[in-house]
Amino acid sequence: MTRLPDEMNAIDPAGPGGPEVLALVRRPVPRPGPGEVLIKVVAAGVNRPDIVQRLGAYPPPPGAPSIPGLEVAGEIAAVGEGVDLAAGELVCALVAGGGYAEYALAPVGQCLPVPDALTLIEAAALPETLFTVWSNLFERAYARDGETALVHGGTSGIGTMAIALGRLFGLKIIVTCGSDEKCRRAEALGAAHAINYRTQDFVAEAHRLTGGSGVDIVLDMVGGDYLPRNLDCLAEEGRHVSIAVQRGAKAELNIVKVMQRRLVLTGAFLRSRSVEFKTLVAEELLRNVWPFVEDGRLKPVIDKTFPLAEAADAHRRMEAGDHVGKIVLTVGR
Ligand SMILES: NC(=O)c1ccc[n+]([C@@H]2O[C@H](COP(=O)([O-])OP(=O)(O)OC[C@H]3O[C@@H](n4cnc5c(N)ncnc54)[C@H](OP(=O)(O)O)[C@@H]3O)[C@@H](O)[C@H]2O)c1
Repeated sequence: MTRLPDEMNAIDPAGPGGPEVLALVRRPVPRPGPGEVLIKVVAAGVNRPDIVQRLGAYPPPPGAPSIPGLEVAGEIAAVGEGVDLAAGELVCALVAGGGYAEYALAPVGQCLPVPDALTLIEAAALPETLFTVWSNLFERAYARDGETALVHGGTSGIGTMAIALGRLFGLKIIVTCGSDEKCRRAEALGAAHAINYRTQDFVAEAHRLTGGSGVDIVLDMVGGDYLPRNLDCLAEEGRHVSIAVQRGAKAELNIVKVMQRRLVLTGAFLRSRSVEFKTLVAEELLRNVWPFVEDGRLKPVIDKTFPLAEAADAHRRMEAGDHVGKIVLTVGR
């Protein structure tokens, strides 16, 4: 095993602020503890929660590094006690932080092998949206073959993953997007229909597109005043899953509608869940989804890559909102 350096380049802002706080700094290279691997990072995915963290509204959970970044891909550089992976293996991993760096620690159970069908840039763009969409759509909302889901943010990292998984698992995915151009892109990726929420009423469209019955599931990243409208989209026994609250954390609901149509309201944050939970999700993904990754049928949609040193520009691109799919930082190699 090659000797590890003592220090590495990383992005680790001293405090909240604009994209300019994402400057390169030197940090100690972490050492893997029991059950952990140290990954020499080749690429790290950028996710909207990284922006919320940068702004100071989404602090890392206890024990997680202050370095942002929730997903990486690269080569195993060192392993801790009790880990049966070897140095040199290529993995992608879901991490609770630490991705924007040359080296990152990951619990071994949150690592997935990188098959030949994926580049390391593609691999780095998978974990956060794959774990989130899988656990919310198929576990919390128990989506079944033939059902219809309404997904807001159709061209987001999350939305493009929902479209891809929907296509592979027999779901009809209706999305909303903020422009006609984004609607066309979402439909080209496999969405059954895309609704421009700026020019159309998505509640009326959801009913029109389902012959009046409504959708089985809403995967919601908008919150606020979307909540009552989302409930109006749902069919009997419909399930509403909240994963973000971009328009606010509070909503006023008519509970009678929940009772009349026997709706289920649920939601989850992924980052603060236990290593045990994330390990179980990784095992499910390995069994159910990885065969599609291995044969090239599931790949993330890559919008643009930026070198780690230009993380500020990567955040600017995401905040401008013109991206489709995933923004990725390239780190080494
Ligand atoms: N709960 C969890 O564990 C978890 C995990 C990962 C991500 N998330 C959340 O999931 C969301 C997506 O993350 P991402 O990394 O994929 O971000 P992203 O690519 O930046 O996407 C954000 C999306 O939000 C959409 N949006 C904003 N306001 C909207 C509105 N009023 N109506 C409809 N859509 C609206 C945007 O759509 P337009 O550009 O078309 O307007 C855009 O597609 C974020 O809010 C993030 O915090 C939650």
